[in-house]
Amino acid sequence: MPRVRVHQHVNPLAPYFRFTPKPIEISEIFADPELPLLLDIGCARGRFLLKMAEVDKTRNFLGVEIREPLVTEGNRLAKEAGLNNLHFEFCNAMLNLDLALAKLPADLLSAVTIQFPDPWFKKKHAKRRMVNRELVETVVAHLAPGGRVFVQTDIEFLAAEMFVLFRENESLQEVEVNENPFPVKTEREKAVEEKNLPVYRRIFEKK
Ligand SMILES: C[S@@+](CC[C@H](N)C(=O)[O-])C[C@H]1O[C@@H](n2cnc3c(N)ncnc32)[C@H](O)[C@@H]1O
Repeated sequence: MPRVRVHQHVNPLAPYFRFTPKPIEISEIFADPELPLLLDIGCARGRFLLKMAEVDKTRNFLGVEIREPLVTEGNRLAKEAGLNNLHFEFCNAMLNLDLALAKLPADLLSAVTIQFPDPWFKKKHAKRRMVNRELVETVVAHLAPGGRVFVQTDIEFLAAEMFVLFRENESLQEVEVNENPFPVKTEREKAVEEKNLPVYRRIFEKK
């Protein structure tokens, strides 16, 4: 089946993307809702999660993505593969991740990944960047004690900007990492690796 065609970027501040999401009901989307949860923010076509959900049955995997056709396609692929520990959700994470996660049971979220988010290079577009203070607060509020946020990008200034936002949060401690700690690489990571470009990575752990 051909890949779903989508715009490369969408403006998260456009009226269409200012919708109010329904809170995600974990018990309705996973076969075993009590498993620890990994959340991938900005998961694109979900290839990272499709593979992770296949190799790690001890966790549930939730991907949030602003390009809705990719969410539909991801859920179709998960169903076809019989992965009942994987779900994708249409969500504008820079505006309303808090609403989407409002019904998440406490201490379930053990890991969050933010991998190669769109840099929105121009200064006038900086407000469109996905990782902002609100997103960091939402992630930290839901993260279980000892839970980890893995952040990586090949764009140095964006890495610096994101790391500062996570460092500012006193509930987190920073962990240096050289390697991706997961057994699966995202599409973007593979592309960056092929070009031999550096990748800037950190883990932030909830105290
Ligand atoms: C450069 S791609 C990287 C995708 C994937 N994480 C990877 O590493 O291959 C960035 C992804 O973040 C999504 N994205 C950007 N802004 C978003 C937002 N506000 N909420 C949710 N997803 C967003 C984009 O649509 C795109 O799929």
